[in-house]
Amino acid sequence: MAELIVPGPVESALDPPYLFPDYRSTTLRSPSRALVMPPAGLTELTGPRFGEGDVRDSDADLTAHGTGEPIGERIIVHGRVTDSEGRPVRNTLLEVWQANSAGRYIHQVDQHPAPLDPNFVGAGRCLSDDDGHYRFVSIKPGPYPWKNHTNAWRPAHIHFSLFGRAFTQRLVTQMYFPGDPLFGQDPIYNAIPDEARDRTISRFSLERSQDNWALAFEWNIVLRGREQTPFETEDDGDVA
Ligand SMILES: [Fe+2]
Repeated sequence: MAELIVPGPVESALDPPYLFPDYRSTTLRSPSRALVMPPAGLTELTGPRFGEGDVRDSDADLTAHGTGEPIGERIIVHGRVTDSEGRPVRNTLLEVWQANSAGRYIHQVDQHPAPLDPNFVGAGRCLSDDDGHYRFVSIKPGPYPWKNHTNAWRPAHIHFSLFGRAFTQRLVTQMYFPGDPLFGQDPIYNAIPDEARDRTISRFSLERSQDNWALAFEWNIVLRGREQTPFETEDDGDVA
């Protein structure tokens, strides 16, 4: 069973703050008063959660759900989920969602004039194995514009969610790609404290790339401690 840590009412110093004025929507949604953590009841702690029987191997291949291959650069995204002591976090549900290679989500809010891909839904999931490893096959997402400021573009990224022992135990973050020229102007990326920002960037992995088939990117996720991966304070439901 995964020993996922539940984020508390106090932000970690390594997470982006609730309020980051350059990221405009945080000025509306950030709390103005101290948060109160409601006690977790029996329902929250014992409610249904995904288990091994609910997750199919094909769920981890985001390229396999159309009638043909999606357009774009095929990638392998893999890594390991560990706790603060470097111990593997086993059997935890990882979910991902992302834009297609043209930078478009299948989402009614996303009206960016870029094409949808009938062979790419942009969502997948898998369980970490006994050593905490996970692996997805996907298409490299494209950057996309958003309305935060003039000429605002999100760097290419994949959203990640990790569930713990109950649906109320959830951590959400984003993985980026190395060398993206859009980092400097992105307030979501720059809201992450300096010392932890690089932890959201994956590493190109030639050794895990597959000849004549796909490039690989490695991204390890640390749940807490000095090496903790920055997590978003909430999933605001938008497509940024
Ligand atoms: Fe996004």
